[in-house]
Amino acid sequence: MEADKQNVQTEKVQVTERDLSEQIKAVTKDSHVRAENTELMLAFQKANISLHQYKLLLCSLYKIYEALEEELDRNASHESVAPIYFPQELARMEALKKDLEHFYGQDWREKMTVPAATLRYAQRLREVLGPLRASERYLFLHYACTTSVAPFNLHYKLCEHPEYLVAHAYTRYLGDLSGGQILGRITQKSLGLKNGEGLGFFSFPAVSSPNLFKQLYRSRMNSIELTETQRAGVLEEAVRAFEFNIQIGSEHPEYLVAHAYTRYLGDLSGGQILGRITQKSLGLKNGEGLGFFSFPAVSSPNLFKQLYRSRMNSIELTETQRAGVLEEAVRAFEFNIQVFEELQTLLNMSEKNELRQRHKTHDVKTPDISVSQRSAVTSSLTSGSQLLRMLLGLCFALALGMGVYAF
Ligand code: HEM
Repeated sequence: MEADKQNVQTEKVQVTERDLSEQIKAVTKDSHVRAENTELMLAFQKANISLHQYKLLLCSLYKIYEALEEELDRNASHESVAPIYFPQELARMEALKKDLEHFYGQDWREKMTVPAATLRYAQRLREVLGPLRASERYLFLHYACTTSVAPFNLHYKLCEHPEYLVAHAYTRYLGDLSGGQILGRITQKSLGLKNGEGLGFFSFPAVSSPNLFKQLYRSRMNSIELTETQRAGVLEEAVRAFEFNIQIGSEHPEYLVAHAYTRYLGDLSGGQILGRITQKSLGLKNGEGLGFFSFPAVSSPNLFKQLYRSRMNSIELTETQRAGVLEEAVRAFEFNIQVFEELQTLLNMSEKNELRQRHKTHDVKTPDISVSQRSAVTSSLTSGSQLLRMLLGLCFALALGMGVYAF
């Protein structure tokens, strides 16, 4: 397509310091450096990405572009959005669907994994931007009539900033047409993908020259009329858009393995002993209050643990990811130790408070209470706490024991 060449020639491209394209580039300069240096982006640049990582990235991109492009479509005729609305040249959704289908098969929608940072990004695009859908408008009106919400909160909820879409579209599309093109070539080589299959996301068939198109895009951005407040909002939103992308590049869904291992395998190991001790020491009957320790769908904890380990071993990880997961497991143990220690402190504090309270009440009611009576009250009060303390001690010891066993 020659559309970008013709458009750039017909539209005068003069850039000044006051131009949105220059300002947005300037305010996001530092963020761009950080975006380039997230673990994921560094892995790309070193050609050290796994197929799993690439598939996960495609899932994230799908969710982001689904929100971005739906909002752009809905606001296409808005004066701030219309100049940068280029669905034919830029839209990524169809390419992403094909890529996902290539890797996951026809039921890619069911197989997709969407990391939390991606959900936050998509949520931002949907919540803050664009006029509300009719159903949302009704909900908010209903909300306003039926609650005593502060006017400021309501105003905030009803805020519409279609111009913020410029910041998000700029961050993604101009990025895709810049560094994205380099990433595409690296991905193709490192994963040995053939005939452009699974690489549709990086390809813009309707853009013959990315550089010329970027010039056109910038000049369109500069033609958007914005008040000073709106301009400041757009610049702030661009930094936020970069932040979301940085978070995605720094996310480690694989670290969940470390946390799930630490908790569940612990619960199925030492946790089973703790359950029996708790039951006996507190005299709990019919499993009541002991549900946490019971796994009715696991007939043999040992066999289940074997299955779990073999599943863990089947996970495809790069060397960096593997090192990260191992480090995270140590961190998960640390967290558990901290939890036990904090519980212990809380227990000590509430024990002391209860005692103080008791003493106060007794002092007021029966100022001549004898020491022996006092210690009887104390011991009856603390017996439960001591038991819990003992359990905590055991948890602590087991956690440490498991640490030694695991590594
Ligand atoms: C491996 C990581 C990356 C590399 C190597 C890279 C590289 C580049 C390069 C070389 C340019 C300059 C293009 C030009 O001057 O025309 C550029 C521009 C840009 N990049 Fe990146 N980038 C990376 C990651 C990202 C990320 C994660 C984002 C955010 C989603 C991003 C957003 C942008 C934007 C918006 C521009 C346009 C700047 C402008 O001209 O106003 N980049 N990138």
